[in-house]
Amino acid sequence: MPLQRPKGTQDHLPEGSPKLGLDVRASAFAHVEDTARRVLERAGASFINTPLFEEAEVYKRGVGGSTDIVRKEMFTVYYFGTHGGYVLRPEGTAGIVRAYLQNGLKQLPAPLKLWTHGPMFRAENVHKGRERQFHQVDYEVLGSSDPLVDAEAIWLMWEVVRALGLTGGRIKLGSIGDPADREGYNAYLREVFTPHLDRLSDDSRDRLERNPMRILDSKSGGDQALIRELEVRPMLDFLGDEARAHFGAVQNYLTAWGVPFDVDPSIVRGLDYYRRTAWELHHEGVGAKSALGGGGRYDGLAAQLGGPEVPAVGWAFGIERLLLALEAEGVALPRAGGPLLFLAAMDEERVGLAAQVALEARAVTRVEFAYRAMKPGSAFREADRRGAALAAVIGSEEAARGVLNVKTLATGVQREVALAELSAFLELERA
Ligand code: HAM
Repeated sequence: MPLQRPKGTQDHLPEGSPKLGLDVRASAFAHVEDTARRVLERAGASFINTPLFEEAEVYKRGVGGSTDIVRKEMFTVYYFGTHGGYVLRPEGTAGIVRAYLQNGLKQLPAPLKLWTHGPMFRAENVHKGRERQFHQVDYEVLGSSDPLVDAEAIWLMWEVVRALGLTGGRIKLGSIGDPADREGYNAYLREVFTPHLDRLSDDSRDRLERNPMRILDSKSGGDQALIRELEVRPMLDFLGDEARAHFGAVQNYLTAWGVPFDVDPSIVRGLDYYRRTAWELHHEGVGAKSALGGGGRYDGLAAQLGGPEVPAVGWAFGIERLLLALEAEGVALPRAGGPLLFLAAMDEERVGLAAQVALEARAVTRVEFAYRAMKPGSAFREADRRGAALAAVIGSEEAARGVLNVKTLATGVQREVALAELSAFLELERA
């Protein structure tokens, strides 16, 4: 058997490949990225690219040492047999904030809106919608603490998935307060859970020391049963006045703009950098346990990475999960089209000429040519197989008169087009 790709990764394949689900169609990823670009750049976002690997410290400090991501899921990069201290990026935000600080982007007009898309890496247990290399569309706004910016960010996440044709899905919105609110909540959680240490999973016992709020996010059934039994109060009950006012303002904007959301008092995100607003987008097509997307405010992250305080908010969604949701709703994304024209020579001596005509016609549109001589019948069949709209053949007689014999495949109509007029003809056909 030939070598296989690593578990939890996918090949993104061209049109026409066998077994081509939406979630492995290269053109589907391109369509999502193009749509996100259109929506986000109209909102004033600029594209940013950061490295696929960073110093581990960026995520230890950024995402947080008590998260599953940092404790269990980071791929370490080794080179020349030495541990380089680098890891593959498990998410985009910490790297973008690192780049913002390092490159002095604070000098650009605020709020600065950035977006990116690309692969992320987490060594998770693999199942449907949970990959080890997955792809995100990510949007970040730096330099404003205004709740209007949070609301606009949520609106834009909603708008990108709507522009792709998704009709279902719900936003679960919460707030995890300011650091002082969280301290109060963590103290409460320690009080509630400490008498039941023996019933907590090993992971959660550890969380009780490092970051008790993470217990609420536990994947252990026993932990979840205990949380229900103890009727643990939600973080929302512990919000201070400022965080509460901020949360109220975000909700007011969203309600006024008609973005549907449910307040979820128990929302806990899987990353430690959040403050105040936090949300997730859920969809039945992805399954109840996993979110299609998530985001929140992270005013403390820049300082965690050694910079000044920079108020910021952002989100990311997983492209694979979005494609699962679109597939579940039966949304058909546009396929990559074929060439407008497929051109073949009818004899070996004319193969170079046919190629030259095609090479020049590419100034106008997508044109493919045959690398060997073909009879008209096989040329037309080959054009059809490649999804071309037009097929043309040229033999000695056509070459002598300076014309091509062009067939419109959909109607079967054939006509002669002068070589000198081919570009103008293709311009018209393209319109
Ligand atoms: P996150 O919730 O960890 O947030 O991930 C965002 C999305 O990435 C998830 O909702 C999911 O669709 C997708 N995703 C995560 N892990 C996997 C996986 N193993 N397989 C497939 N898809 C996955 C963040 O990453 C934050 N950086 C979002 C953010 C941006 N917050 C502020 N700015």
